[in-house]
Amino acid sequence: MEKANKEAARFARKEYPGLAAAVKKELAGFLEVADEEIIITRNATEALNIAIQGYPFKPGDEVLLNQLDYFSMTETFRMLEKRGQLKVNTFDMPLLPAGDDEIVDMYKKQVTEKTRVILLTHVYNINGLIIPVAKIAAMARAKGIDTITDSAHALGHVKFSLPQLGSDLVGLNLHKWMGNPVGAGVLYIKKERIQEMQPLFGDVTAADDRINKLAHFGTTPFAVIMTIPDSLAFHRMLGIERISARLQYLKTTWVNAVKDHPAVEMVTPGAGHLSCAIASFRIRNKTSADVADHLFRQHQILTVSRTLGNQGCVRVTPSVYNTAGDVQQLAAAIKAYAG
Ligand SMILES: Cc1ncc(COP(=O)(O)O)c(C=O)c1O
Repeated sequence: MEKANKEAARFARKEYPGLAAAVKKELAGFLEVADEEIIITRNATEALNIAIQGYPFKPGDEVLLNQLDYFSMTETFRMLEKRGQLKVNTFDMPLLPAGDDEIVDMYKKQVTEKTRVILLTHVYNINGLIIPVAKIAAMARAKGIDTITDSAHALGHVKFSLPQLGSDLVGLNLHKWMGNPVGAGVLYIKKERIQEMQPLFGDVTAADDRINKLAHFGTTPFAVIMTIPDSLAFHRMLGIERISARLQYLKTTWVNAVKDHPAVEMVTPGAGHLSCAIASFRIRNKTSADVADHLFRQHQILTVSRTLGNQGCVRVTPSVYNTAGDVQQLAAAIKAYAG
């Protein structure tokens, strides 16, 4: 921050372009893709808006979403529908699917002859359900359908390989589980798909097949982008296996302590490859807002009340810095309030 602002234009013009190119190269290496396939955005919402609004929809195209997809992406598709550019179809994703096959079949049943794109939310923010993106993307591809994947909550949290997702357009965050200072996301577009994308931010000079045509942002937050190598180094030092194992441990510790309480209802699958650090619950006869408010006021435990059906749910998201003691306190507080 100090360097970028003290050295102002000299830094911005002489030093930053080289630094930014090096950061992008390192980030692309970390993501196992080419640096010609990514742009650094301010966040996942921006990345996915560039993908969704830049996608070459044709009149009559349909897209498939579900009730758990993140509201910002749903609203972007709804906005395009309102403008007459596409038709949105939705379905209800089960909260507790039995396994990958049930999820893939669900998508398979919902697509129509006109489905052009399926939005895949890799990890749902509402209940932490992980969907088998690669399997759904393969099913879709076989029918000539594209997937746009929202991996905002997946990077740095669950182990996956970006190229192996098999989704040509993916939005990710660096300021959630990667721990980068706030203001950094990534858009990945498979090389051969760049040509057909339309810029959201006006650009008529960059070549059609260069991803830079989609990144005409104006001045960007230099300092936030310059910290990316440190975030990657910190992530590598912890290692995704240890991060995921630790998060599973913290999640299972509190979930196992409350799940059999007669007044508690879990809305997240138990341990296993469909679940991650995020897990959500309800207390019968209490509103989710009341539960989250009680946990914060009485116990200084921050949870989030989320909209889900009529009753909502309370989402709990431990991070690597939380202790087993923290989540045990949470479990005790939930049981005491549930009665
Ligand atoms: C599933 C999902 N997608 C996208 C986003 C948007 O991320 P950002 O606010 O960084 O753009 C969020 C934010 O919580 C999210 O949970």
